[in-house]
Amino acid sequence: MRELQSLDVRGRAVLVRADFNVPLGPMGEVVDDTRIRAAVPTLRWLVGQGASRLVLASHLGRPKGPDARCSLRPVADRLSKLLDMPVALLPVELDEARLAASAAPEGSVLLLENTRFYPGETANDAEFGRRLASLAELFVQDAFGSVHRAHASTVAVARLLPSAAGLLLQREVEVLSSLLQQTGGSFTAVLGGAKVSDKIGVIDNLLPRVGALLIGGAMANTFLLAQGHRMGASLIEPDAVEVASSLLSGEWSRKILLPSDLVFAESLDRPETAQTVQVGQAPGNGAAYDIGPATVQAFGEKIRTSETVFWNGPMGVFETERFARGTYAVASAVADCPGFSVVGGGDSVAAVERSGYADRIDHISTGGGASLEFLEGRLLPGIAALEEPAHA
Ligand code: 3PG
Repeated sequence: MRELQSLDVRGRAVLVRADFNVPLGPMGEVVDDTRIRAAVPTLRWLVGQGASRLVLASHLGRPKGPDARCSLRPVADRLSKLLDMPVALLPVELDEARLAASAAPEGSVLLLENTRFYPGETANDAEFGRRLASLAELFVQDAFGSVHRAHASTVAVARLLPSAAGLLLQREVEVLSSLLQQTGGSFTAVLGGAKVSDKIGVIDNLLPRVGALLIGGAMANTFLLAQGHRMGASLIEPDAVEVASSLLSGEWSRKILLPSDLVFAESLDRPETAQTVQVGQAPGNGAAYDIGPATVQAFGEKIRTSETVFWNGPMGVFETERFARGTYAVASAVADCPGFSVVGGGDSVAAVERSGYADRIDHISTGGGASLEFLEGRLLPGIAALEEPAHA
């Protein structure tokens, strides 16, 4: 993968794909600017090296066409504050955007409107890729969170311009690759979240590499059911019971650690009914919303004595205070891990931020789906496109 530092950017216009897919509040305000801040080092580097202009591109949300609610205007405003320089939002119409970009003063930073406003984006349309490429002379891919998408702004354009990976993408690839190179027993993976099916590729690829795989969150319910435990009205993924069962009797089964106790409640909106129950003694009418204290203890000890830990997915419904203890306890243990700690993906990043331990984690991935697909061992299309020669 060609690196940013190998590009001679002086006096040249650079198109930068960033992942500015950030949550917006009811007034359209940026609720969490982590991804915008994460893009800043590459942008500063390019400005510092004398690029004639930067044209930034990103998607936000999943609009099916132009939609004011998904405008990148709030991102332009936030980025402008972070860079301490103006960031102009270009017109949606691409010819107008190109004219505005070429008329902009030397050293300008310009932001294209949401790439998903254009029908060619998700189709990875070559013509739309050409129109994007016409905005610059070089392409820098720094949207790690989007490189698992084969879209025009991640793939088509990279084939048309001399391209390189930005600093954020380089770091993500370096860190996640280092996890895949683990072979010793001191690597622990902690997986949570709702669905086994979302994580099965990661489980398959990590099991030979880890010493222990700790499973919590609703996905643990499916494993516990596969072991024959009654799970009451807990969230289960019926289609995944078989695969859970085969993992529990497979070659790596001894590495899999499941909860021994759970926090059950009558329903999510009745947290006052919460009680700890031992696995196997679940009441028929309640559901599991968190891991229990004995599991917190066991998971915590394992994580704190690991040399490397990777965590993805909450241990319970952490948005509700009564069911947040397991997730925050895991965040605390990951922060205490004396070796190298990595947190990957959407919900667990939000959890680690809310827990207050984020600054003690060695690497928090900006990619949700992308980090999981990377850890499945796949070559992601937006990275593969950087390996291909440009036909500019
Ligand atoms: C993400 O938030 O995971 C990335 O920005 C990708 O977004 P998408 O799932 O809408 O393609």
